[in-house]
Amino acid sequence: SETDKGVYPYYMLKEIDEQVIVAHTLSQHYFDDEANIQNIDASIIEAIQSSDRLYIVAAGTSYHAGLVGKRYFEQWTGIPTEVHISSEFAYDQPLLSQKPFFIFLSQSGETADSREVLDNVVKQGYPSLTIANVMNSTLTREADFALPLLAGPEIAVASTKAYTAQIIVEAILAHAVGQSGLDLKNELAKVAVEMQVIIDQKESFKDIAEQALQNRRSAFYIGRGLDAAVAVEAALKLKEISYVQTEGFAAGELKHGTISLIEENTPVLALLTQSKTAGLVRGEIAQVAARGANTIVIASKSLVKTGDAYIIPDVNELLMPLLAVIPAQLIAYYATLDRHLDVDRPRNLAKSVTVQ
Ligand code: G6P
Repeated sequence: SETDKGVYPYYMLKEIDEQVIVAHTLSQHYFDDEANIQNIDASIIEAIQSSDRLYIVAAGTSYHAGLVGKRYFEQWTGIPTEVHISSEFAYDQPLLSQKPFFIFLSQSGETADSREVLDNVVKQGYPSLTIANVMNSTLTREADFALPLLAGPEIAVASTKAYTAQIIVEAILAHAVGQSGLDLKNELAKVAVEMQVIIDQKESFKDIAEQALQNRRSAFYIGRGLDAAVAVEAALKLKEISYVQTEGFAAGELKHGTISLIEENTPVLALLTQSKTAGLVRGEIAQVAARGANTIVIASKSLVKTGDAYIIPDVNELLMPLLAVIPAQLIAYYATLDRHLDVDRPRNLAKSVTVQ
């Protein structure tokens, strides 16, 4: 059945693999044969078009998917977009624009902090949309609109396919509301093909994980722009299941503090998929390497240099997060296996946090 591990030792690995099929499923659901949008109500598109600012609200990995989605909404719809952590927003509501529109992102649809925000938003009379994996959940029922992630049940505590599904649905929605200038259906088909290419090379991440992270207590993920957004998710994946204390952040911030933590062999994993800032990130990689860091560069094909640890196939740069996160998911998985820990059930964590 759908919730069977089948041949997989852990749900997480199964769910990483399933990202390819989820990408296809979403494409089939949201595009017709002519690459026109379907299954997004005109009323959703109109409500977003008539708002002056979008507020994406979420927790955990879903929040990280919001950081990526912000770029699509701003670039393709021209509507300023803020991304907020639900546990913050719920108890310290920031100043809102005249015509806000709320987008809740959630795998479970039951996260208590996000529910609290939605309650407040409904009371204030603002329009809302929930994008969730579990339809008929509290967040989908109580928002004005809902769109499905169609990722199938996600069992592993560490979220993988819900993250990429959220990014895809955000891209499709932003494209539907505005103008991406892309044949998005075709671009997402390429993403699915290249996801499979990365997944077929999973063994290389076993080597990277073991070589870089064995016996290490801390690690860093760095990147700029969309890679900075992926870096925080990459760090969360690694820390939450392997217990290697990992920070992910904007590479330019290294010099403002974190670089003092670099010692001989400190693992610094750099994501390098954005051409605008690639030169700057190369500089930052050199700076940490000069201080003894073990630098592991995960670069897109068009930006790769000899010595980089892994080459990510090229797709449209805005969609690179969908590929760049997969090495990070696999590195987290193998680092955790290497430590003989339960990949699917890290200590102290729950799949869905229904308490505030
Ligand atoms: C928990 C899970 C995370 C998830 C977060 C938000 O902490 O362990 O994987 O990202 O909740 O959950 P949601 O269901 O709202 O996406």
